[in-house]
Amino acid sequence: MEKLVSLCRRRGFLFQSSEIYGGLNGFWDYGPLGVELKRNVKEAWWRDMVSAHDDLATLPGAPSPYEMTGLDCTIIMHPQVWKVSGHFDLFADKMQTCRQCKKLVRADHVADMTRDAEWAQSFAACCFVPKPDGTMSFNSAEAISWAKTRKLGRKLAPGLALVRDPEVTMSWLAEDIENESVTPATLTLPLVLSYMATAQKNETGLQTPCPHCGGDLTEPRDFNLMFESHAGALQSDENKVFLRPETAQGIFVNFKNVIDSSRVKVPVGIAQIGKSFRNEITPRNFTFRSREFEQMEIEFFCHPSQSADWYKFWRDRRMKWWQEIGLAGERLILRDHHADELSHYSTGTADIEYAFPFLPEGEYGELEGIAHRGDFDLRSHMEGKLDPNSCPLEVQKGEDGKPLHKGSGRDLTYRDDITNERFTPHVIEPSAGADRGTLALLCEAYHEDTAPDDKGKEQTRVVMKFHPRIAPIKAAVFPLVKKDGMPEVAQDLYRALKKKFPAFYDEKGAVGRRYRRQDEAGTPYCITVDGQTLQDQTVTMRDRDTLEQVRLKLDDVVAEVERRVTGE
Ligand code: GAP
Repeated sequence: MEKLVSLCRRRGFLFQSSEIYGGLNGFWDYGPLGVELKRNVKEAWWRDMVSAHDDLATLPGAPSPYEMTGLDCTIIMHPQVWKVSGHFDLFADKMQTCRQCKKLVRADHVADMTRDAEWAQSFAACCFVPKPDGTMSFNSAEAISWAKTRKLGRKLAPGLALVRDPEVTMSWLAEDIENESVTPATLTLPLVLSYMATAQKNETGLQTPCPHCGGDLTEPRDFNLMFESHAGALQSDENKVFLRPETAQGIFVNFKNVIDSSRVKVPVGIAQIGKSFRNEITPRNFTFRSREFEQMEIEFFCHPSQSADWYKFWRDRRMKWWQEIGLAGERLILRDHHADELSHYSTGTADIEYAFPFLPEGEYGELEGIAHRGDFDLRSHMEGKLDPNSCPLEVQKGEDGKPLHKGSGRDLTYRDDITNERFTPHVIEPSAGADRGTLALLCEAYHEDTAPDDKGKEQTRVVMKFHPRIAPIKAAVFPLVKKDGMPEVAQDLYRALKKKFPAFYDEKGAVGRRYRRQDEAGTPYCITVDGQTLQDQTVTMRDRDTLEQVRLKLDDVVAEVERRVTGE
């Protein structure tokens, strides 16, 4: 992963936001190559899901033909949207604060972060000693020495109770060993670290250490993830607004507008790509968990009797799409949620997950969720916030017996003009992350192999094997040398290519080095104008992955690159 992160920065795929000021945690900028890559992901999604969708055909696995259309809604919406959607009350993560360094940590990330923390690894290496039978045993004298050493405990974990007060802290463990409430054999690293984070066990019980400084963490508390702002000059509660945490709600509240203003009919999907914001407590793993990111969401409205079949269709179609744009290997999986993970109004939810290299072996991170949401959202926006735990679904009431959060009161039902039936459509929601998708494609593309240099000697090369459709630059054009009319021919070819797609012209340095630069950028085709071109109007085209070079007519280059990129 470090190699990829460094390549992304060096070659201009991704930069930390506001880097010259030290960066801002959870915010990322896409550089010249990154912006093309991410645009290609979003454009491929929009084209394949919306603009090129054939409304007349029945796609494989679909119960019938269906229509697709799009929207582009505002980031700031009426605050009632978020009250009714449940984000105002429920969109929270459990968070813990360190009483020593005051940093916030997401409760479900504490264990992993502590395991990876430099101080915990240093503590484990110094204080757990191997026994002849191969197991490890905890050595309290080593632990006290570690805590008192300036370059170890005192530098790495200044907040740890053991560092602040070694003898008293260690006495609680000694006491529990003596009264046999713990035995040396059951002293695992996480348990020992809890003792080491506890200054006064008799008053507080065992504490959880802070992954950052070793200090003691507070009990988990709810922390709402929505960013707040104010619309208008007054900074009052009445003017409080939220940056949307998902694009989906813009689609639900516009459902009626779309149906009434266009001629689309249910079953219909309404798509949107746009920024979403979540004040993630512990943004990490590059762009995987950011505070500002882009989503590509479809809300697919259908008749309740067909919703289970549509759910299956979308689950499979979305998985196939990620495979088609380059995540074709074993690192991509489709994981169905267990029945006990589902809301009772949903017949299915599946996640498309990718084995990101920063995750432990065997773990996967979510790229996209496909959820059967029943009529929960449209009914909530009509009647008032529904209680997701009620069955059948009922409006959640406050202490005064009135709806806790009032709906719009607008009729969001749909009338089928052939059967005359009026119903509240069910919703299938494929919700993907454009940034996580881009990150997965970067991870999948990164390869190291060997290729001959200008002198024919095999050299290690870094090559980004993007699917040609997704590659930021589709073709690069090189004159072999900067003389004999070669640059002029190459520049004409470059201009012809550039009319169709991003292309690059390079005449500087040895041709082998020019190839290497394009390999790192993931450019699938490099075209070289050489001495023979001037005689017979042919050029060489080198394939990034196979390194195969073919000679083709200068006049055929644009069509050939286009054919390979589009696969048509
Ligand atoms: N409307 C449903 C919804 O928003 P979600 O699972 O919370 O569902 C959908 O988000 C997708 O958005 C995720 O699968 C992921 O790709 C992306 N996403 C969510 N939170 C993110 C974050 N903090 N950083 C980057 N991408 C995120």
